[in-house]
Amino acid sequence: MGEIIDKCVEAIRAAHSGAIPRVAIQLGSGLNAIADALSDTTILSYADIPGFPQPSVEGHAGRLLIGTFQGEPVLCLQGRVHYYEGQGLEPVRIFVRVLKALGVEILTLTNAAGSLVEDMGPGSLMAITDHINSSGANPLIGANDETFGPRFPDMSNAYDPALRVLLHEAAEEAGTKLHEGVYLMASGPNFETPAEIRAFRALGADAVGMSTVPECIVANHCGLRVAGISTITNLAAGMSNVPLTHDETMREGAMATGRLIGILAGFLKRVNAL
Ligand code: HPA
Repeated sequence: MGEIIDKCVEAIRAAHSGAIPRVAIQLGSGLNAIADALSDTTILSYADIPGFPQPSVEGHAGRLLIGTFQGEPVLCLQGRVHYYEGQGLEPVRIFVRVLKALGVEILTLTNAAGSLVEDMGPGSLMAITDHINSSGANPLIGANDETFGPRFPDMSNAYDPALRVLLHEAAEEAGTKLHEGVYLMASGPNFETPAEIRAFRALGADAVGMSTVPECIVANHCGLRVAGISTITNLAAGMSNVPLTHDETMREGAMATGRLIGILAGFLKRVNAL
């Protein structure tokens, strides 16, 4: 794996000779507009980075962008490999460890999620406080690579509390409401059943989705600090009469993008001042 990571880093550095931003933002479903808001951008297709994970799902372009976002340096990842695509979680290990090897310090994970909370409806934004891994998978299973981190990593503060404070400050400055809650990952690809949603609520979940948790685990293992925001695209199964579709997810994700951009701009400004 080390060799793949070295090759990826080499390809990225060959395309971008400037400094690597401290902050990376992973753009979830429907959040492509953020990539369009970058300037002075180096753009690499994932396909042009040998060994870098290639996503297949619709709506994920698969591009790594290094540029400035309202004047603040940032590395954006447009498109991720999901567990349900069937490639296992090796792609997530590579994806996150390449960022670490590049010198990124903070990984900001965004996603589209269903809400388990009535008054956190479609279009809401939620800072992730913690997660429940209900996917049945773990990206760290297998031989541990000590060069990245310990066999048994601590996950007590998996979503960095200090970064969450900065997210809230940025939201307040932007005049945007930012909820907080626990994100539960189900493997997908089907949306959940109403009975599963009731069970997940009893477990303490506030939002449900099919990503983010593996990235967060690999990031914590290798010492990257993590911030997470869910864009709520729908009330979870059984909570409304609207059938759950990928199209709805994309549409609602796009509608909240403007407000998320506002939060991320303020967040970057604060993080880069640290
Ligand atoms: N469930 C799982 N993943 C999702 C959902 C959902 O309701 N909405 C967006 N991604």
